[in-house]
Order: sequence, then C-alpha cells, then structure tokens
Amino acid sequence: MERVLLEVRDVNKAFGGVITAKNVDMKVMAGEIHGLIGPNGAGKTTLLNLISGIYEVDSGHIFFEGNEITNLPAHKRARLGLGRTFQSPRFMNRASIKDNLELGTDLRNQFTYIQSFFGKKGADFYSELEELMEIAGFTFDWNEHITSLPYGQQKLLEIVRAMLAHPTVILVDEPAAGLNKQEQERVSLLLRKAVDSGMGVVLIEHTMEMVMNICDNITVLNFGEVIAKGKPQEIATNPQVIEAYLGGENDA
Ligand SMILES: Nc1ncnc2c1ncn2[C@@H]1O[C@H](COP(=O)(O)OP(=O)(O)OP(=O)(O)O)[C@@H](O)[C@H]1O
Ligand SMILES: [Mg+2]
Repeated sequence: MERVLLEVRDVNKAFGGVITAKNVDMKVMAGEIHGLIGPNGAGKTTLLNLISGIYEVDSGHIFFEGNEITNLPAHKRARLGLGRTFQSPRFMNRASIKDNLELGTDLRNQFTYIQSFFGKKGADFYSELEELMEIAGFTFDWNEHITSLPYGQQKLLEIVRAMLAHPTVILVDEPAAGLNKQEQERVSLLLRKAVDSGMGVVLIEHTMEMVMNICDNITVLNFGEVIAKGKPQEIATNPQVIEAYLGGENDA
C-alpha cells in the first residue's frame, strides 16, 4: 500500500543570493498527511510553489505518480491532480460561495468559465459538497458573496473547494493560521477525510499541536535544507529541530 504519489528529488532554488531550497528530497505517500514544518522563512511555501509549478527549480526533479513534472506549467500539474490552497485564501471575491466552489472544481475538469455557469452539476457533486460542508461545520446561504464569510470559514471553504476537484495530492499552506480551536479541529477532520479516501496531503503549519496530532510523517526545513524527517514523536524530540526553532526569530 506504500504508493509514492509525489517525490521531490535533489531540488535547489535560490532567489538572488538567498538559498530557499538546498538539495531537498521529500516523498509523499498515498493516504498520508505529510507535515512540512520549519521556522519562518525556511522555504516551506517556496517548496510548495516549486511543486505546484509557480516557480521553476534551478535544478533537481519532481515526480507525480511516477511521471516527471519538473518542467510542466502549473495548470497542467493542476489537471493531473495536484491541488493546493494558499497561505491567504484566494477566491473570486465578487462571486457567490456557490460559484466559487463550482468554478474551483471545473478548473480541474477543464470546463470553460461560461460552460460552468450554464452547465449543471451532477447529483454526486452536491451530495459530496453537502458531506464536506457538514464536516466543515457550515450552515449558510451559499448564494451569498464569498466575502460575507468570516475568515475562518473562508479558509475551511478553500480546503473544501480543493477536495471537490478530487486531486491526488493536496498542498495546504497554513490552513489553521488565524483559526480558533474548533475551526482548527474541522481543518484536521477535512484533511483526515482526504487521506482516508486515498489522497496524499502536504501540510505546512505552525500550529504544533495540530501538526503533531494529524501528521503521519514530517519533513523539517531550515534555511532551505531538510534537517530532519520522521514520525511526529521523533521530530518533537530531535535536538536539531528544537535548536532550529529556538535559535530563530519565529512564531512557532
Ligand atoms: N519570489 C521571491 N523572490 C525573492 N525571494 C523570495 C521569493 N519567495 C520567497 N523568497 C524568500 O525565500 C525565503 C523563504 O520564503 P518562504 O516564503 O518559502 O518561507 P516559509 O517557510 O514559507 O515562511 P513562513 O513560515 O513565514 O510562511 C525567504 O527568505 C523569502 O524572502
Ligand atoms: Mg510560508
């Protein structure tokens, strides 16, 4: 059952003189939540951007379900089944909650914008949506503008939207930042649901309690380098990891 969905192999990236990825290796298996942690500025978001194709690697390789995707543009990676959420939620702010969810899914399925406004979704879409909404704890009029939702709900909705597209791997960047305990718990439930259905999740998060509770494996970055890999218990007691967190000016 150990199936590698995503592999980052010997990846390097620098911006000017700043090295943000140095010989980075990481494997994400089907059915696992893989934590990607490290102090502020360690290169976590940069690595997600390299994986999803927003940035190009300077050198190294990225494989998705066994195929090399290192040089594919971001939209092609998304169509292959590489989903993501952003550190700050990204929606079409002028559109309703419903349109945002439907369009987010259609982007994966290659419908055009116009088609998706006039096309009908199947019953499956709505029953799945309902199920995810319940996990996310939502009760609202989904014809409302997306901006009418409080921040925490927007963040939860972004995960729901990513899941509705049925990606193989979802990259989530700080889904629990700014959320209260109950909302954080709902983020965990959604991510657990994703991996229970066979997806792989890469989770960047500073909320250590959440990371330690829900990650199956963790990769720790510091100054663009992998300084530790392992199970949560191993990471929590790793001296180099403790040093990296205590040594920097971070908020973890
Ligand atoms: N487009 C860019 N141009 C120049 N420098 C960049 C760019 N993107 C990131 N960096 C730099 O790369 C380094 C790593 O940034 P990154 O955002 O990946 O860190 P992070 O681990 O996600 O931090 P945080 O926990 O604060 O979100 C930082 O020094 C940042 O300033
Ligand atoms: Mg970041």
